[in-house]
Amino acid sequence: MDAQQIKQMFIQKFGESAVAPRVFHAPGRVNLIGEHIDYNGGYVLPAALEFGTTLVVREREDGVIRLASTNLPEEAQIKVDEIGLNKTGQWTDYPVGVMVELARRGYPVSKGYDLFYHGEIPNGAGLSSSASIEVVTGYGLLSMGGYDRDTVQIALLSQAAENNFVGVNCGIMDQFAVANGKKDHAILLMCDTLEYKHVPFQTGSYKLVIGNTNKRRGLVDSKYNERREQCTAALDRLRSCKADLNYLAEITPSQFEDYKSALTDETVRNRAQHVIEENARVLASVEALTANDLQEFGRLMNLSHDSLRDLYEVSCAELDVMVEEARKIPGTLGARMTGAGFGGCTVSLVHEDDVETFVRQVGENYEARTGLKGEFYVCGVGEGVEELSSN
Ligand code: GLA
Repeated sequence: MDAQQIKQMFIQKFGESAVAPRVFHAPGRVNLIGEHIDYNGGYVLPAALEFGTTLVVREREDGVIRLASTNLPEEAQIKVDEIGLNKTGQWTDYPVGVMVELARRGYPVSKGYDLFYHGEIPNGAGLSSSASIEVVTGYGLLSMGGYDRDTVQIALLSQAAENNFVGVNCGIMDQFAVANGKKDHAILLMCDTLEYKHVPFQTGSYKLVIGNTNKRRGLVDSKYNERREQCTAALDRLRSCKADLNYLAEITPSQFEDYKSALTDETVRNRAQHVIEENARVLASVEALTANDLQEFGRLMNLSHDSLRDLYEVSCAELDVMVEEARKIPGTLGARMTGAGFGGCTVSLVHEDDVETFVRQVGENYEARTGLKGEFYVCGVGEGVEELSSN
């Protein structure tokens, strides 16, 4: 659906007015490599998708905020002086959480607005549909208020909305990627300092294929928090080797060889090993991409998945089956799970001549082995949050 059609639906929903609505868009994201690294202070390499969330906004005179969507049934109506007083457990908590964080930072939403969302990202697939809603709301409301639109600050306040209002303890990667993506580029983000650079993602005759396992992501929040606690436990123990340690990802793989005996609990040691090696793989991936060595990048993707499966233990049978089947296709250079894990999506780098075979064969074999129907998106890298021209 294009912006014009979504605007038409907005008018059907909220009616005509002399004031023209404005239209904003934020993408979803796929993480290319660097999984479970953001809250460990290291490097990640996500990229914005070509699909995301479109937001149509129009000011109202009566101090009421109305929220509706083309694809989710719940709606909300809130007076501006009651923002954040109620949590509903529905998608509208994301924009409301952003409004709360805007107010905390000195940008209160003091006017009424009609806000209408159109989401193209499958929910719960690990492609950051929630970060996309948060970031497009922050960007849209700052724009409507005539404020500066600093996309790093928007990422931070969106993450704060998710941590504080929605109650999910995520890191910064998703919101950052959605806010700061750039067409045909990945984002190399240092999660401790938030320094970042755009790395050209030119894959020539190779395509990114995202595979949705359609496995519901059970227990993701509790397991995610458990992994964070295990990383904190590893960090505490490793401070006996290196007192000034702030984050696990500060340790190099060779330092880890010297320090690892301090981690007597095998599970905690495995978690730390994943983090330290995955962080190094991100930097190696940037080198490989810069040298146009896609074979090497694919190899690193494979190692990343194996480590998430065996050491960090955030994969699941469905993700593993899809990755195994993906790797059987001759034109696949690499395949891995992407995002938090426990369900959600895989990402593979596949030669364009083999994409059709990939989608058919991986789809058939995945269904035969799991009883679930996978879905595949062949997609390029899109822009970060932006205002779409409104005519
Ligand atoms: C989820 C979180 C991110 C990040 C990834 C794992 O997507 O929201 O902050 O931790 O998991 O890399």
